Amino acid sequence: MGNIKTVKDVNLQGKNTLVRVDFNVPFDSNGQISDDTRIMGALPTIKHLVEQGARVILTSHLGRPKSKADTQFSLAPVAKALEERLGKPVKFVDDCIGDKVKEACSAMKDGDVVLLENSRFYPEEKKNDQAFAKKMVEDTGAQAYVNDAFGTAHRAHATTAGVAAFLPIKVAGFLIERELNFLGSKTENPERPFTVILGGAKVSDKITVIDTLLDKCDAMLIGGAMAYTFALALGKKVGSSLVEPDKVDLAKAALKKAREKGVKFLLPVDNMVTDKIDFASGTVGEMKDVEEIPEGWSGVDIGPKTVKLYSDQIAASKTILWNGPMGVFEIKECAKGTFAVAKAVAESDAVSIVGGGDSVKAVKKSGYSGKVSFISTGGGASLEFLEGKELPGIAALDRK
Ligand code: 3PG
Repeated sequence: MGNIKTVKDVNLQGKNTLVRVDFNVPFDSNGQISDDTRIMGALPTIKHLVEQGARVILTSHLGRPKSKADTQFSLAPVAKALEERLGKPVKFVDDCIGDKVKEACSAMKDGDVVLLENSRFYPEEKKNDQAFAKKMVEDTGAQAYVNDAFGTAHRAHATTAGVAAFLPIKVAGFLIERELNFLGSKTENPERPFTVILGGAKVSDKITVIDTLLDKCDAMLIGGAMAYTFALALGKKVGSSLVEPDKVDLAKAALKKAREKGVKFLLPVDNMVTDKIDFASGTVGEMKDVEEIPEGWSGVDIGPKTVKLYSDQIAASKTILWNGPMGVFEIKECAKGTFAVAKAVAESDAVSIVGGGDSVKAVKKSGYSGKVSFISTGGGASLEFLEGKELPGIAALDRK
């Protein structure tokens, strides 16, 4: 966490406090919230502020609306869901600047909670427009800023960073504190052996994170389609697998760095392949386990020998960081490797950290999420943080 001030370092009693949360939650086809992790994740900070007697004014985005006309992105259903989970009234205001906001915020009593409408209904939000940020501070009567939106901390937007310039107090909430502790401190000074598991489709998406983590870890296990680009770099056959031939040099450079650093760099020793895959219907043709991928076949998962190899390494680790699935886990037949890795991570005694949208989805789907030490609420934000970038939403906060 370093020296960033948090809600524990300030007393916000009686203060109108603008709190940026990440309520960008998924909805199912019936319009119900299908995963409330981000709402639950924000509760400790909201409860703390309520108990302290702060006047809590929550702001968030939801989805990527172009304007107010995209009413399906309203935060109104989230206000209801929050109210149920918080066990106290949450006043929803169907705007995030203007007269309605002024009226609702000036009438607040200590411990009251207000949720403002989707900040992205104004294009100024994403532009980090200073006049818009200033107006939000003025209309809410905010005297302090709390950022607890880790999932959006990699965006330099008005509510994630811009408003901070107009407020004398700007601190992190408990969710951001926990994210920085696990993704940051626990991987900066890890208990060793420290094993990193990286998956996903593209080497190009992960190359910076590979490079940064090779400086810190003792072992790196690679899965997902990006393993086939590494296979190509080693002169192996990849059949019709998804590969990035123009990224072979990057893969070679990563292999060289691992050798120089003495990092154990494990690639799949066998692969589950199929002769047909249809993403739309979620079906595959024949499946078989091979060491090298024959012409006309595509790799879709790590094979059982690789599962054993990776599971043994995971069991011998004291810190584990996992980002990215091992295969096309959305399709049942191709999910075995990812779920087996989830099981190995869950069963290990290590501090286990899962970050990144797809790996979080995969771990939840596997049923093992309860046994992981920490699951990040960030997708892009986790990745950028692990790449070593400074996140604008964190940079905007006060230092001790
Ligand atoms: C996320 O879901 O990753 C965050 O809420 C950020 O959303 P964005 O990618 O639309 O900025």
